[in-house]
Amino acid sequence: MRDITRDNITAAVIASFGGAHDERFRLIVSRLVHHLHEFSRETALTHEEWRAGIDFLYRAGKISDDGRNEFVLISDVLGLSSLVDLLQTSAGATDHSALGPFHAAGSPALPVGGDLVRNNAGEPVLIRGRVLDDAGAPVSGATLDFWHAAANGLYWQQDPAQDKHNLRCTMTTGVDGRYAFTTVRPGPYTVPYDGPVGDLLRAGGRHAWRPAHFHFIVAAAGHLPLTTELFCAGDEYLEQDAVFGVRAGLVLELKKNGNAEDVRGLERDLEPPFYRVEFDFRLKRDA
Ligand code: BEZ
Ligand code: FE
Repeated sequence: MRDITRDNITAAVIASFGGAHDERFRLIVSRLVHHLHEFSRETALTHEEWRAGIDFLYRAGKISDDGRNEFVLISDVLGLSSLVDLLQTSAGATDHSALGPFHAAGSPALPVGGDLVRNNAGEPVLIRGRVLDDAGAPVSGATLDFWHAAANGLYWQQDPAQDKHNLRCTMTTGVDGRYAFTTVRPGPYTVPYDGPVGDLLRAGGRHAWRPAHFHFIVAAAGHLPLTTELFCAGDEYLEQDAVFGVRAGLVLELKKNGNAEDVRGLERDLEPPFYRVEFDFRLKRDA
C-alpha cells in the first residue's frame, strides 16, 4: 500500500513522470506540479475554489473554436504570454510583443511604398524604416507581415463593413533593408470580454482595453523571427494594456511632420502634414 500524505504527494506525482524520455518535458512537468501544489498549500485551496477554477477552464473550452482561443486570452490577461515574449527577447534585437488573435495568413503582398489607406477613414500615417540585423546591417529579403485595427478599433474579422484583409499586407525589403507604407492611425480596442476572461477581468476590477497598436511579424533567412507591436505615444491605455504588451522601445512618437518629399514615389500621395513614423526592426542572427 502506498500511503499518500500531504507531505509526500508532490514528490510522488513528480516521480510518476520519471519515465519520460524527453528531459525538457520532465523538467517542465515536474516544476509545474511543484508550483501548482505549492500554490494550493499556500492558499489552503478549498474544494469550492478548486471547482470554480475547473469550471472556469471548462467554460474557456466551451467558448473556444477555430476562430477563438480563450486559453490564449487567459494567458494574455495573466501576463503569461507577455512574459514568454520577454524571455525570448535577446540583446540587440527588437522586443517581442503580442501576436493577438487577429493575424491571418494570406495577406496581400505590397511593394515597398504601397498603400493601405484606400477607402479607410482615419488619420493617414506613413510608416517607414529598415530591417537591420543585430550588428546594424540592413537585411535584404526580409518579409514584414503587417496588420492593425481600423480607426474604429475593429479588425476586418470583427467588422462586416471592412473588406477581407483590410489594413494588412506583406512586404519584402530590398538590398537597403527598407520598408515603407501608408495607412491610417488605428483606434484602441478591447480584448474579447464576453466569455470567462471577461468574468475574470470584472472580478478583478480590470478593464479589457488595449492601447492602439500596429502588429508586425518580421522574418528573414538566417535570423530569428520577430513578432511585435508598435504603440502610439499619448494613448490613454499605454499604462494599463489589458495584455501587458507595452515596452518603452516599442512606443512611437506620432508627429504630424510628414511632407511632400516623404511620399514622393509612394503609391499614395498624402496631403501634408501627415503623421510620419520611423522605426527600424532589429533581428537577431540565428546562431
Ligand atoms: C490584439 O492585439 O489583437 C490582441 C492581443 C491579445 C489579446 C486580444 C487581442
Ligand atoms: Fe491587436
